Amino acid sequence: MGLGDLRRSYDGSPLDPSDLHEDPLVQLGRWLDEARAVLASATEVNAMALATADEQGRPSVRMVLLKDLDARGLTFYTNLASRKGRELRANPHAALCLHWQPVYRQVRVAGPCVEVDRGATDAYFATRPADSRRGAWASHQSAPIDSRAALEARMGEARERFPDDADIPTPPHWGGLRVEPVEVEFWQGRPDRLHDRVHYARTADGGWERTRLQP
Ligand SMILES: Cc1cc2nc3c(=O)[nH]c(=O)nc-3n(C[C@H](O)[C@H](O)[C@H](O)COP(=O)(O)O)c2cc1C
Repeated sequence: MGLGDLRRSYDGSPLDPSDLHEDPLVQLGRWLDEARAVLASATEVNAMALATADEQGRPSVRMVLLKDLDARGLTFYTNLASRKGRELRANPHAALCLHWQPVYRQVRVAGPCVEVDRGATDAYFATRPADSRRGAWASHQSAPIDSRAALEARMGEARERFPDDADIPTPPHWGGLRVEPVEVEFWQGRPDRLHDRVHYARTADGGWERTRLQP
């Protein structure tokens, strides 16, 4: 059976703009809660694809983990000197996509990306397991390295430098980035590919305008 023969029906329940909260970030929180309830530990419900573009507009995409959702936007943590970090510094426009296949749902988000304040980054960094914190020192994310052995040697250096689990500072090159949405779209898979889509666009007065889109 070829890829072209793979076919599933998306039997999600109907989604009408009036079913959704007027604030798409509140609505996203609801969908995340529902995904957690249905998917439990089977998958990481907070995984999302992050698209960035370089100065010439050439896109790149990779997965990151949503670590905070509030009225301002969606926060993930990363190495700020990585490819994504460099691209976002040159061009702050980002797009995100979350997908929960078993419930036939997708959420798309787009907007500028800002660095979260160092206090919030330090607070989150402190919650990470000690070796993940050392790993953030060991890895120059996105830069080439000769071998796995060389990477593990760098981790060994980080262990020597920071022997005490309680005293591993946040690397200066590591931090949180928050995508502050100007657009959000909720997609619910429906039979016969007649999916329901609700698009939110930021209005000039800081509110949101909701529109149904064709599938
Ligand atoms: C499910 C999943 C979650 C990930 N979460 C993160 C994350 O939160 N932060 C991060 O820097 N990289 C994360 N990664 C690794 C990135 O996808 C990527 O490989 C890395 O950040 C380097 O990307 P870049 O070279 O484009 O900057 C994750 C990968 C997967 C598969």
